[in-house]
Amino acid sequence: MGFMEKMWELAKKDLKTILLPEGEEDRNLIAAEKIKDNKLAKVVLIGNETKITTRAKELNLNLDGITLIDPETYEKTPAYAKELYEIRKNKGMTEEKALQVVKDPLYFGTVMVKVGDADGMVSGAIHTTGDLLRPGLQIVKTTPGISIVSGTFVMQVPNCQYGQDGLLLFADCAVNPNPTAEELASIAIATAETAKKLCGMEPRVAMLSFSTMGSASHELVDKVRKATELAKAQRPDLAIDGELQLDAALVKEVAELKAPNSPVAGKANVLVFPDLQAGNIGYKLVQRFAHADAVGPICQGFAKPINDLSRGCSAEDIVNVVAITAVQAQ
Ligand code: ACO
Repeated sequence: MGFMEKMWELAKKDLKTILLPEGEEDRNLIAAEKIKDNKLAKVVLIGNETKITTRAKELNLNLDGITLIDPETYEKTPAYAKELYEIRKNKGMTEEKALQVVKDPLYFGTVMVKVGDADGMVSGAIHTTGDLLRPGLQIVKTTPGISIVSGTFVMQVPNCQYGQDGLLLFADCAVNPNPTAEELASIAIATAETAKKLCGMEPRVAMLSFSTMGSASHELVDKVRKATELAKAQRPDLAIDGELQLDAALVKEVAELKAPNSPVAGKANVLVFPDLQAGNIGYKLVQRFAHADAVGPICQGFAKPINDLSRGCSAEDIVNVVAITAVQAQ
C-alpha cells in the first residue's frame, strides 16, 4: 500500500475536523466535496457564505453537510479576538487590533485550532508559506519538547533500494533557512517522530554534511556534529548519527568504509539536511531526477497540525494534505 493510500485509510478511521480557510477558492470547494464524499474528515470552509454557495452551484458541487463559517458574522468571532489578544498582548496586540486581525481567515482558522474548535488546518493554495506559518507560529506554537516547526517531505522513490524500499523522509525542506545546532537537533527528533507516526517506520536518522565522521573540518561541519550530539543526548532511544555524507548514509558499501560502527550509516531512512538551501534543493533533485513522489511539506512541531499547500496545487493535492493533517491530529 502506498503512503497516501495508508493516510486515507487511517483518516477514515477517526474523523477529525479540518479547516480550509481559503474556502471561497475553487480548488478548495472541489476538494471539500471530495473529502466529504470519501469520508476523510469533517471539513469546515471559512469564507463568505453567499460567495461559497453561489460558486459551489456554478461548479455543480454538492456541499450539503459541510460547515461554512464567516469570520465577519460568526458568533464566536469576539471570543476568538479576545483569545488572540491574550496570546499576543505582550507582542503589541491591542483588543481593537485583535478584532480586526481575527477576521483574516488564516488568523481566524489558527485561533479556532488553538482553542480546540477544530483539529487542524490546511491552506496555501492562494497564500505563501510564510502567510500560513506566521499565525501558526505566533498562536499555536510548538509541541512540548520540540523547539521549532519544520517541514518534512515523504519521498517515495520508484525502484529504489535505499531507505525503506525507496520510502524516505527529508527535512527541513520548507521552513528554517539556517537552523542552529540546537534547532537542527530538534528537526532531527521531530522528523523521527513523523516517520514513526505517519509511516510506521523505525527511524534511522542521518545528519547530513559534506564530511563523514570527521573526514573534513569546517564550522559548517561542526554545526552538524554538535546537532548530532544534542539530538542523541535528548533522545538516546532514537537511532541518530552523523555527521554523514549522503552516500555514507545510504549505501552499505560506502558506510562500511567510512562509518563502519554507525547504527545508521548505510541504512538511513530519515535524511536531515544542514540548512534549507540543501534540503529544498535536495528533495527537488530526487523528485525530478528519480521521478519520486514528494508528499509535503508536512509541517511538524506545531502543537496542533497546520499544513501548507503549494500555490500550484490541485484539488486532489488539497484532499491528500487534509488526509495527512487528519492523521496527524489523531
Ligand atoms: N518554529 C517555531 N517558531 C518560529 C519559527 C520556527 N521555525 N520561526 C519563527 N518562529 C516564531 C518566532 O519566534 C516568532 O515568535 P514570537 O512572535 O512569538 O516572538 C514568530 O514565529 C514570528 O517570527 P519571525 O521571525 O518574525 O517570522 P518571520 O516573519 O521571519 O517568518 C517564517 C517565519 C515564515 C517561517 C520564515 O522563516 C520563512 O518564510 N521561512 C521560509 C519559508 C519558505 O519560503 N520556504 C520555502 C518554500 S516551501 C517549499 O518549497 C516546499
